[in-house]
Amino acid sequence: MNICCFVTILLLLHSCTPGDGMDHGIVGGHVSVPHSRPYMVYIQDSIKTKEKCDGFLVREDFVMTAAHCHDGLRHPKVYLGVNDTQFLPHGIEADSFPLQDFENRAGNDIMLMKLKTPATLNKTVAIIDLPNPWNDKISKDCLVVGWGSTKYDHYSPSTVLKELNVTLKNLTNCFDPDVICNEDPLGPSQGDSGGPLICGGVAQGIVSFNMKQSNGYVTGYTRISQHLLWINKVMKPHKP
Ligand SMILES: *[C@@H]1O[C@H](CO)[C@@H](O)[C@H](O)[C@H]1NC(C)=O
Ligand SMILES: *[C@@H]1O[C@H](CO)[C@@H](O)[C@H](O)[C@H]1NC(C)=O
Ligand SMILES: *[C@@H]1O[C@H](CO)[C@@H](O)[C@H](O)[C@H]1NC(C)=O
Ligand SMILES: *[C@@H]1O[C@H](CO)[C@@H](O)[C@H](O)[C@H]1NC(C)=O
Repeated sequence: MNICCFVTILLLLHSCTPGDGMDHGIVGGHVSVPHSRPYMVYIQDSIKTKEKCDGFLVREDFVMTAAHCHDGLRHPKVYLGVNDTQFLPHGIEADSFPLQDFENRAGNDIMLMKLKTPATLNKTVAIIDLPNPWNDKISKDCLVVGWGSTKYDHYSPSTVLKELNVTLKNLTNCFDPDVICNEDPLGPSQGDSGGPLICGGVAQGIVSFNMKQSNGYVTGYTRISQHLLWINKVMKPHKP
């Protein structure tokens, strides 16, 4: 199944199913306190600067994002410690490692990016924890963060980071055991691809797609805990 023609991949300017006229979006949200989400990473193509995704820092030298961002971001630059995307700091080049077969399997929508210059951690640049392999329980109170659209029906990105509390209602599969689906009238929209779903302080999901339903949207997040072996393989050896 090609998920693209069934659901909306939350990539900038990439829409298969137009939404309705809802006036919220990501992230329905509240503007984040500046620099309060220091793991958030803004990713832009250095040539086609309209192509962008979100990501999050998981080690000094690695950013995690969605694999469907790969096509638009062939010459990626990552920006750390961003408050307002109109004032980007110096970008860092990165090599991309998308999980194989992500075009055909919703649950494989995960990509790691290795920074050519590792980040220096400070008050505005920090790492977020990944799930640990001994505990696959996911706290239901979560937060989703992004610079994506504030409307579902047309692209109107936010230049400042926004965030929304979401409660996971039902953790059963929607397409794939490797996808966390959540139904909510508000949530991530275009341009939020690759951002984190943070539950109990841990990055448990990656914003992947949404799907319009009668009473709101279902958002699909790649379930990070299903890919820990692959993550460890790509991120080894540790060269801080
Ligand atoms: C963050 O960006 C907003 C919008 O440009 C600005 O008003 C605010 O002062 C900035 N805060 C910091 C700490 O840079
Ligand atoms: C933290 O690091 C970022 C990115 O390297 C840099 O832009 C920022 O100025 C640094 N902040 C402090 C407080 O050193
Ligand atoms: C979001 O959830 C956190 C933690 O449960 C809580 O402290 C915060 O007040 C909530 N924010 C909003 C806007 O509801
Ligand atoms: C929630 O999960 C149950 C199975 O555990 C299923 O029967 C039900 O349809 C699901 N509800 C939604 C809204 O997905």
